[in-house]
Amino acid sequence: MRKRDKGMRGTLVTMERVENQISEEFRSLRSNIKFASFNKNIKTIVITSPSSGDGKTMTAANLAMVFSQEGKKVLLVDADLRKPSIHYMYGLVNDCGLCNFLIGQKDINAIIRSVYPNIDVITSGLTPPNPPELLGSVQMSDFISEVREQYDVVVFDTPPVLAVTDATLIANQSDGCLLVVRVKKNDVKDVIKVKEQLHFAGANLLGAVINGKKQVKNEYYYKK
Ligand SMILES: Nc1ncnc2c1ncn2[C@@H]1O[C@H](COP(=O)(O)OP(=O)(O)OP(=O)(O)O)[C@@H](O)[C@H]1O
Ligand SMILES: [Mg+2]
Repeated sequence: MRKRDKGMRGTLVTMERVENQISEEFRSLRSNIKFASFNKNIKTIVITSPSSGDGKTMTAANLAMVFSQEGKKVLLVDADLRKPSIHYMYGLVNDCGLCNFLIGQKDINAIIRSVYPNIDVITSGLTPPNPPELLGSVQMSDFISEVREQYDVVVFDTPPVLAVTDATLIANQSDGCLLVVRVKKNDVKDVIKVKEQLHFAGANLLGAVINGKKQVKNEYYYKK
């Protein structure tokens, strides 16, 4: 296992330590998504952030896990065609995935992999020279319509908004978008800029995930 493989696997905390504080935060995030959506059914959710290393992949994978833990049929899609990493998290070989479908090389069922009960994964597949063209294509719209039919929740991991347009192209076609903001790393101006870009792209911004905030012990927690 390479160093990066190890690192990414360790971030799937909601599977390994169901009862810990971080898992509880992800369950809160799951509830907040439901509250944020009122009576609109949010099925397709894009996870993005201003820059690289903010915690998008970690958030996407753990969110997928907590949705599956409440019995939802979940699909996690690695739509970061430039720097894919979902396959590291599940120890998969990224030899076939979303990109292979988008260029018409594979059927949708041939790229879906079952990793846990209730969670399927689609890795990014081959590396294309033109991600925005593929992600803004009719094939991508068809892909989103198809997976909406097959799953209760579809989570898209994407590249950073300030670097490339890829995330906004998917957010435009999805039910909701979550902006991951890493404390002490992301500049407020950059966060505002990303919010504006997502808004301009027609994304339904559900809210922000504040990643890396110091944990404050709550004296008033309720223990079973
Ligand atoms: N709150 C946190 N505390 C400690 N480590 C974290 C935290 N959030 C993320 N990390 C680690 O930071 C690294 C980057 O996280 P991740 O890969 O999820 O970011 P990303 O936004 O997807 O980056 P990229 O844009 O490069 O794909 C990973 O090694 C991850 O395990
Ligand atoms: Mg990532």
